[in-house]
Amino acid sequence: MAINTLTKRNVQQLTPYQSARRLGGNGDIWLNANEYAVSPDFNLSQTDFNRYPEPQPQGVIQRYAQYAGVMPENILVSRGGDESIELIIRTFCEADEKILYCPPTYGMYAVSAETCGIQTQTVPLLPDFQLDVAKIEEALNHDNKIKVLFLCNPNNPTGTLCKRSDLEHILHFTAGRAIVVVDEAYIDFCPEHSLVGALANYPHLAIIRTLSKAFALAGLRCGFTLANPELIAQLQKVIAPYPLPTVVADIAEQALQPQSIAQTQTRIAEILENRQWFAQALSQLPNVEHVFTSFGNYVLVKFTDGEKVFQALWNKGIILRNQHSALGLNHCIRITIGSRSELETVLNEIQFLTKE
Ligand SMILES: Cc1ncc(COP(=O)(O)O)c(C=O)c1O
Repeated sequence: MAINTLTKRNVQQLTPYQSARRLGGNGDIWLNANEYAVSPDFNLSQTDFNRYPEPQPQGVIQRYAQYAGVMPENILVSRGGDESIELIIRTFCEADEKILYCPPTYGMYAVSAETCGIQTQTVPLLPDFQLDVAKIEEALNHDNKIKVLFLCNPNNPTGTLCKRSDLEHILHFTAGRAIVVVDEAYIDFCPEHSLVGALANYPHLAIIRTLSKAFALAGLRCGFTLANPELIAQLQKVIAPYPLPTVVADIAEQALQPQSIAQTQTRIAEILENRQWFAQALSQLPNVEHVFTSFGNYVLVKFTDGEKVFQALWNKGIILRNQHSALGLNHCIRITIGSRSELETVLNEIQFLTKE
């Protein structure tokens, strides 16, 4: 008997998330997962592993609270931002309810919902990649089954920042009806645009954060949900008993010490400088149609022939993220801001294609 016939129907039909690692490639230069090019250095200070870890490690929570400008009771720590996405769906969506998201955006909102057997509704971004607030409002007014909205700010893969007034408007008309998740995985690259200051006004707002991007710790798997204590308490009921291994908490706590945060600030400044230089240099190339303004550690680039550029660089061991099949992103590639020398190589290879 094929085991597939025993699998839940929604999982039988599921197309799993095409993570950068799952897509593979044989590369020397990895610019497809918005990681940082080199690892920060840490030594383990915990060497006893015979006991279960703290369910919510207080050292990590306290330091992140200080970093984010909230109180410890506003924080839940989890196995990356991805676990937070799934937890929110599992906590708030009944079997017949839906999530709403705005493509092109991060793929895990849809995959997590589908894994949980929850339906999805989309309201595509406007041509300038801003939120279509009128359509979102209309969708909610027509369908009382929409329970969770996922808004990505800055948006992956476009790099766009949502308008603050749009976010506030959405938070206003969803009050008492739905949970609004603002995914701030990339907000450390533009912290002045965080919605964290608005938490006090919106009990239905949840903000997702991560150590994977600006903190250069994608391999650690550590993320956060910021919200009011009542919302955090609901997630606490659903999260696994020991979500963070002892070693993860140990390193996360070190990464949030003042000295490490200062290193992160330096890293962010370097990425922003490289992003500006790279975007400017790319925009001069004849096979580049457009470099979209980005607020994250990546740029979305539209080429005259995106497939050709993606494949040619892939063959040379330079792995980028093809966005060709994402909604409205024909010929677009997302490129992580790696080190200056990685970006120089990418630029040279793209330039080389114009001479063929
Ligand atoms: C928008 C967005 N949200 C969340 C995540 C997940 O981050 P984490 O590594 O913390 O699971 C990512 C990772 O790429 C992302 O791009």
